[in-house]
Amino acid sequence: MKNIAIFASGSGTNFEALAQACADGRLDARVVLMVCDKPGAPVIERANRFGVESFVFSPKAYSSKADYEQAIVKMLDERQVDLVCLAGYMRIVSEVLLSAYRGRIINIHPSLLPAFKGAHAVEDAVAYGVKVFGITIHYVDETLDGGKIIAQKAFEYDGDDAAEVHRLGQKIEHALYVQTVSKILSR
Ligand code: GAR
Repeated sequence: MKNIAIFASGSGTNFEALAQACADGRLDARVVLMVCDKPGAPVIERANRFGVESFVFSPKAYSSKADYEQAIVKMLDERQVDLVCLAGYMRIVSEVLLSAYRGRIINIHPSLLPAFKGAHAVEDAVAYGVKVFGITIHYVDETLDGGKIIAQKAFEYDGDDAAEVHRLGQKIEHALYVQTVSKILSR
């Protein structure tokens, strides 16, 4: 059985989809750590509910990104983590984490990359007036929402309600993340 770590900054619905799939046996893995850079984020309560250990930190408490990433790498190493899944972790990963886990860190993003990178992908896509939206899962490198694409799924929506696009997209995200993690872990 493989060990996964999930990094999140907010609500944690993707955390929950992955943790539930592990609990159900749909994913042959266990979530050994949840890393969160936002004390008080709802994902922490979800991790507690699933009995998943959390490492919650405030970046301001560290003198540099390298410092807190070193602490994270130590925890990942100690728990023999095979795959790191970023799930709404709203930070660029730096060389410290990448040099230790390159090729073993993936991210989910709510657009058809390389279109609409960044923290407001859905709002930007709606403002642009696109009619085909989508979700991308990709390997993480030092660029914002860059890195080799692993999986994508598109959906059509003709309107201007970003909240609705988020709702439609998240349903797709949860299924696509579980499927994709399963494929990667079985390689
Ligand atoms: C997800 O929709 C994910 O695609 C997005 O954050 C959301 C987190 O939701 N990630 C990014 O925008 C990364 N650039 P969740 O906390 O409910 O899983």
